[in-house]
Amino acid sequence: MKSPSKKSNAFNIAVMPGDGIGIEVMDATLAVLDAVERRHGLGFHRDVRQGGAHYFRETGTALDEASFQAAEKADAILFGAMGWPDIRYEDGTEIAPQLDLRFRLRLYAGVRPIRAVPGVPATLNDPRAKDIDFVVLRESTEGMFASRGKGVIEDDRLARDTMVITREVTERLSHFAFDLAARRGQRKGRKGTVTLVDKANVFKSFAFMRSVFYEVAALHPEVEARHHYIDAMALDLVRRPWDFDVLPMENLFGDIISDLGAGLIGGMGFAPSADIGDEHGLFQPSHGSAPDIAGRGIANPTGMILSLAMMLEWLGTRHGSDACIAAAEEVRTAVDAAFGSGAVRSFDIGGQDGTGAVARAVIDRLGGSA
Ligand code: NAI
Ligand code: MG
Repeated sequence: MKSPSKKSNAFNIAVMPGDGIGIEVMDATLAVLDAVERRHGLGFHRDVRQGGAHYFRETGTALDEASFQAAEKADAILFGAMGWPDIRYEDGTEIAPQLDLRFRLRLYAGVRPIRAVPGVPATLNDPRAKDIDFVVLRESTEGMFASRGKGVIEDDRLARDTMVITREVTERLSHFAFDLAARRGQRKGRKGTVTLVDKANVFKSFAFMRSVFYEVAALHPEVEARHHYIDAMALDLVRRPWDFDVLPMENLFGDIISDLGAGLIGGMGFAPSADIGDEHGLFQPSHGSAPDIAGRGIANPTGMILSLAMMLEWLGTRHGSDACIAAAEEVRTAVDAAFGSGAVRSFDIGGQDGTGAVARAVIDRLGGSA
């Protein structure tokens, strides 16, 4: 990762709330950011940009060119969710400018930490479920999604989409995975493990991906490298998810497995994510716009708040801001304290605390108070 020379505690962020609960969890998360700014002497200038399915219905554009450029110029992008099932392009696919952002800004590393938050009821009935802490690393610029907008239907007889795996992106993703596992290993005082998830027994593209992965693995002897078939991984993530560390995989596999992962730790409302490239970073919860609960103030903002923590850590590391890194840790700790103490219980886990109440509980616990 290139490190900009600027050493600073002032940042410009592009803010894209989007559709449905994206707007609600963004509001809650910006309140947490307000508190963090005051506590740590940080400054975040926010360039708020509209976009998404409803914006498309009004204007005919999902995200304006000016907004793309604002995202490109910003130090980081904070994103809610975009898309709405009833609003579609003529070919039947959904409005998803987040995919365009990933492709245009070359955000190849979809980082989706799956970590059990204390106090949140585990899906698996096993005492080890509290130790779940792995990262789905979803390649986000190629794979099956390279075919987006390019698939063909021939004579109403057959349809075809094509998967693309390149050496360049596989190398970058692999280095990213090993660096991440090395940092995680250091923090936990043990050797990190990267497990490539593929289907190399059947497809040439995955056999190629695996061979490139092991070339890169040889350059990272401090981390253990393994591989696992996607079908077996689906089984093992339900049987023994606490055994895994960093899991790079192709785009469509990562799309599916990250939802499975969220299901292990209380649901989509607890799952943060970051889309990282060599030059840009976009931070958003793993979930979508959730039309089934939108507009009722009951969405759980935790995934988005934890995505904010990922943004703070990434900015802090890139720009040499210790204040930012400390703020990231403080936000994560406050989330754990809010749920771990039993003080707050969001609707998605059977509680009565709405979006604002969860955010307030987190804000109250920043710095270990309350
Ligand atoms: P979704 O993630 O919006 O919802 C799946 C289920 O999880 C729903 O039952 C929802 O109520 C629940 N859920 C999600 N987030 C929650 C939260 N914070 N708190 C409590 N419950 C939560 O996925 P779905 O329904 O497949 O997609 C809805 C729309 O969002 C679609 O238009 C889709 O294209 C879009 N989408 C956008 C994404 C993005 O912007 N990155 C990612 C995924 C979907
Ligand atoms: Mg998804």
